[in-house]
This record gives sequence, structure tokens and C-alpha cells, in this order.
Amino acid sequence: MIDPGTVERIHDTAEIADVVQDFVTLKRRGVNYIGLCPFHNEKTPSFIVSPAKGIFKCFGCGKGGNSVNFIMEHEQLSYVEALRYLAKKYHIEIHEQEETQEQIEQRNERESMMIVSAYAQKYFTKILHNDDQGRNVGLAYFRQRGIRDDIIKKFELGYCLDSKSGFTDAAMQQGYQLEFLEKTGLTIKRDNWIRDRFAARVIFPIHNIAGRVIAFGGRTLKSDKKIAKYLNSPESEIYHKSNILYGMFQAKREITKKELCYLVEGYTDVLAFHQAGIENVVASSGTSLTSNQIRLIKRFTDNITIIYDGDDAGIKASIRGIDLILEQGLNVKVLLLPQGEDPDSFARSMSATELTTYIEQNKVDFINFKTNLLLKNTDNDPVTRAKVISEIVRSISMIPEPIVRSVYIKECSSLLDVKEEILYQEIRKIKQKESEDLQNKQARQQRIQEQEAPTTPLISQGKDLKCQAEEREIIRILLKFKNYKLFEETLEDNTVEIVTVGDFIVNEIEAEEWTLFNPVYQTILEESTNLPSDTDFNCQRHFTIHQNEQVSRVTSDILAEKYTESNRWKNNGSYVESEEDVLGSLVPKIVIEYKMARVKLLEKQILEQMNTINFNEDPESFMQLQQQMMNLKKVEKVLSENLGKRAITG
Ligand code: CTP
Ligand code: MN
Repeated sequence: MIDPGTVERIHDTAEIADVVQDFVTLKRRGVNYIGLCPFHNEKTPSFIVSPAKGIFKCFGCGKGGNSVNFIMEHEQLSYVEALRYLAKKYHIEIHEQEETQEQIEQRNERESMMIVSAYAQKYFTKILHNDDQGRNVGLAYFRQRGIRDDIIKKFELGYCLDSKSGFTDAAMQQGYQLEFLEKTGLTIKRDNWIRDRFAARVIFPIHNIAGRVIAFGGRTLKSDKKIAKYLNSPESEIYHKSNILYGMFQAKREITKKELCYLVEGYTDVLAFHQAGIENVVASSGTSLTSNQIRLIKRFTDNITIIYDGDDAGIKASIRGIDLILEQGLNVKVLLLPQGEDPDSFARSMSATELTTYIEQNKVDFINFKTNLLLKNTDNDPVTRAKVISEIVRSISMIPEPIVRSVYIKECSSLLDVKEEILYQEIRKIKQKESEDLQNKQARQQRIQEQEAPTTPLISQGKDLKCQAEEREIIRILLKFKNYKLFEETLEDNTVEIVTVGDFIVNEIEAEEWTLFNPVYQTILEESTNLPSDTDFNCQRHFTIHQNEQVSRVTSDILAEKYTESNRWKNNGSYVESEEDVLGSLVPKIVIEYKMARVKLLEKQILEQMNTINFNEDPESFMQLQQQMMNLKKVEKVLSENLGKRAITG
């Protein structure tokens, strides 16, 4: 548990524009910043950051929130993980709150697994540097491979002693539970024995993109062919192989900066590139590339260059990768290394500038790559040519963006000397087939869904709630002006009481004995009554950084909505009153509008009931309803008379 004081400090320090700027290029626009939204694809920026309000908001996809929400969304982290991420970024020491036994047990499993992984990484690193065997075997191995100390440190490499359960014993002695050692795969447990998974291996920790250790790769130092060269952590609650790229944490900043990501195969390739001074590199680590991994890259750049070995396996993997990458709408180039080289050995054989130059000069786009590859040794035989063309067209058809597609069609047309029309025709055929397949699939899914339709609607679905626009206005005004004086009231004993906007709203709604339909709004309204009422208190901030994530998001969202409002000058130059100037009429108006909406809703419900009752069968109920309806109509009349008229002069 992070104590509230630390949470507060993190929010104070993590300035929204600074946090966002790590991932999005922002341009100043008046008091705000604007950029391309990282959460959806867009060409014109609709992503706004407001330093004054401490929030971001995308007017394209609707995402919004405070700094912590941004990190949660962007880095796919939990609330606590996001806080830790920011604490780390701003060097804020986290004061852990004293935990009760119960809390310790409740602390979620994922967190425990990450904690045990962090311990293991530190342990393995310590062994590598401080233990005799660690130094003589592990460290000696890395040195002999020419890996520099700064790289060993940067990637937190380590060594696991050649023993049955030395690591597991040490961890348990420190109080780490066997349960989590086993769940992370660090320890292998059978009925009558336990042992260290990574014994006698050098260790490559695998980080998630927030920099926390979630898994390990261990390389054996024996050349025995029967022993697997690499052993990796098993899939677990915190490690989903197909969503992770090795080196992403260390590369992401440079990827954004260079607007390019190099994709290599293995741990040592990543290390060698860093050592050569090229840091925008990640590895798929033995598994074949997945679309989730590509989407991960897409969060930082649209450009990927695949650098694989020049052997058959490397070529196959490249071809598979190309289509997957194109499908996700990214640009892909390929560089095949000379036979017998892998990125590791190749990078080692030259300087950083030579390496970069070589890559830039030899990388080819996927059309050239496929063409060269497929036309090799075929003497331009027409049947093979036709096959090559349809292969390339298939890849082009994967590209979601029509304009990009047309560029490649031009290139393909000139390279293979085929008319563009013919290529377009081919693509249409493929697309048609795809859309038929999709329709079939959707029809199938629809049938399944109909069979499993839920019977009760979810309460949290705001769109099913009533009077939402009106409730939102109430909350918006409450957030902005809660402690503003609305008017003074002289009490019977002649003392004068100040009624604030917050008092007024709460009193009016309590008087009706209503609760707001939207549970998040209701939480804000209720909590507002317990907050300080002095004018200095920053109510917006209180709810923007609220621990309840729904509350903080809703608040950010509401505050973002009127971001243009500070612009008080109309086009013709005349002054438009700000809300603050007209609270006396604005606040009652908003409350009355809400009351009107609820009265109308009640009327509608009564009308519906009356429609189900037959007057002759149940005259009493019918008349009762009629009476209620008449009362409501009266209330409605009074309300609408007041609307527009009623103003409070303070
Ligand atoms: N790999 C794996 N399990 C294996 C072999 C390979 O997980 N049994 C993964 C590792 O992530 C490895 C990558 O596939 O880094 C590439 O494999 P390979 O080229 O064989 O290893 P290198 O990275 O070249 O390692 P080294 O240079 O130490 O042989
Ligand atoms: Mn290698």
C-alpha cells in the first residue's frame, strides 16, 4: 500500500504535459497543448493536454484523465503500478503504509509475483558480481563474449548458481513465499523436491514496459546439445510471452525519437545493438512475432525494420512478420544479414556509424524483398512470375490505408511490369473474399451471442442511466464552483450565513430526497459535503486525483469538456460573460433543469403505468395515478416559470 501522502506528492510532481511528452509530441496551442492521440489512429491532432487542469483529453476517441490515468492507459498498468512508475520517474521515495496481516494476504497475486521477480533479479545480479562462481563463470562468460560492463548493468544481467535450490532457499529465508516462487516459474516444485529453474545459467531479466521485471531468460554455458540453450520463464499471470518484446523498456524513448524500431531475434542481438550505440531495438525472443507485439511497437512508432539472420529460418520468419506488420498498418522494411551472421555477430564486427549506414543502405521495402527472394533462380518463368505477383498483391491487400496501398501498387507495377489495373483487380478479389469471410464469422458470433445474452443490464453503463446530461451539468458546476459564495442568508437569530454553490446544490437535491442516477456522480456529490469549504480548497484537483479511478476519470472528462470556454471573446469581438460572473442565475437554472428532467421522467413513468391499467377494472389505482400526474404537472409549471426568471443576487 502506498500511503496517501506519497500519492499526493506523486500527483503534485507528475506534471501532465511532462508525463505525456514522453510518448506524444505536443505543440503549444494557447494555454493547452495539442498532439496526435496515442490511443487511436489519427492524422489531425485531437488530443489536448491542459497543464492548468492537470488533465488530458482526446476529442477523437474520448479517452481522458490525469497523469496517473494516462500512464495506466498508455503503459497498460494498474493504478498502483502507474503510481510506482511515476514515483520512479520523478525519484519520489515511496512510503509504504504499514500493512496488517490481512492486507498482506489481500495484496494481489500479480503484485506479489512482481515483487518476487524483482528480488530474484537483484539476487542473480548480486551473485554475478559478488560471488566467486558468479564472477568466474557468469561474469567471465559475458566478458568473453565482449559484453561491456555498462551493458551488463543496463540490462541487469545475472547468474544463477549451479546448485539444486540455492536461490529458492535464499528467497524463502528472506520471507518470500514458495507459492509465488512457483507461480513465477523461478522454482520448480514436485511432490518431494524443489529446485531452481535457472540453475547454472546466465540470466537475462525481461522487463515490462514500465521497467518492472516480469520474467527471465537463462542461457546455459554448456555446449551439450541435449541441454536447451535458453530456458525461459513459463507463461504466468504477469508474463504473457506474446505481449512482450525483449528490450522494449530500454528502447521505447529512442524508438519515439528515431521514429523507427529495429526488430531482431534474440537477447544477445539487443545487447549488441545497444553496445554499438543503437538503442531503438527490440527482440521477439524466440517466439514468432505476434500481432500484439506489433501493436506494442505501434504505440511508439509506425516504422519497423526487421533484421533477421540470412538463413532459411530467418527468411521464413521475415515473410511471416511482414504480413502481420502490414496488417497493423505499419511500414516495414527488411534487412537480411549475410549468411552465417546474426545481428549480434554483425554489430560486433563494425562501428555504430558503419552499422547504421549498412542498415540504411541495405534495407529494402517488402516488395523488393519478396520479389528478389521469389524471383531468385527462376529465370523469369511466367508461372513463377504469376505466383510472385499474387504473393505480393496479397501482402499489399493487408495494408489498411488505401493511400499507402496505392503507393505500393505503383511500385509493384513498375517493378514487375504489370498494369496497375490488374493489381487493383486482384486486390478487389481478395478484399471481397475477406469481407465474405468476415460476414460469415459475424453471423456465427451473432448466433452465439443471442444464445448467451445477459438478462440484466449492467448498472455501470452510463448510457442506460436517466437524466445524464442534466446530472453532468450539476456535477460540472459543483466541481468548478463548489466553494463560491452564492448568497447570504440571515437566520432567525440575525446571524448571517454564507450559502455556497455546493451548499445550494446539495440542499436542493436532498430536499427532494433524490440520489443521482449515476453512481459516480452521486459519489462526488456525497463526498463534496465532507470537503473543506474555504475558498482556497481546490475541489477540482481533489476529484481529478481521486483514488477511485472512475471518479478521477469522470472528473477529468467533465473538466476537459469546456476547455474552449476560457475563450471569452466571441468572433465579433464582443465580451461573453464567464460562468463565474453569472453564478447567481446559472446555478439555480441548472438545478431547475435537473428537476424538470426528473419530473418529466416521473410523468413518463406514470403514463406508462396508466397505459397498463384498465380504468374499469381498477378505477382506484387509475385515479391515484391521475392525481399524481396532475401534481407533477403543477410542479412542472412552477419550475418552468422559475426557469429563466429566478436569479439570486448575492
Ligand atoms: N531462444 C529461446 N530458446 C531456445 C533458443 C532460442 O528462447 N532454446 C530465443 C532466445 O531469446 C534467443 C533467440 O531465441 O535469444 C535467438 O536464438 P539464437 O539465435 O539461437 O540465440 P542467440 O540470441 O544468438 O544467443 P547466443 O548468441 O548466445 O547463441
Ligand atoms: Mn548469437
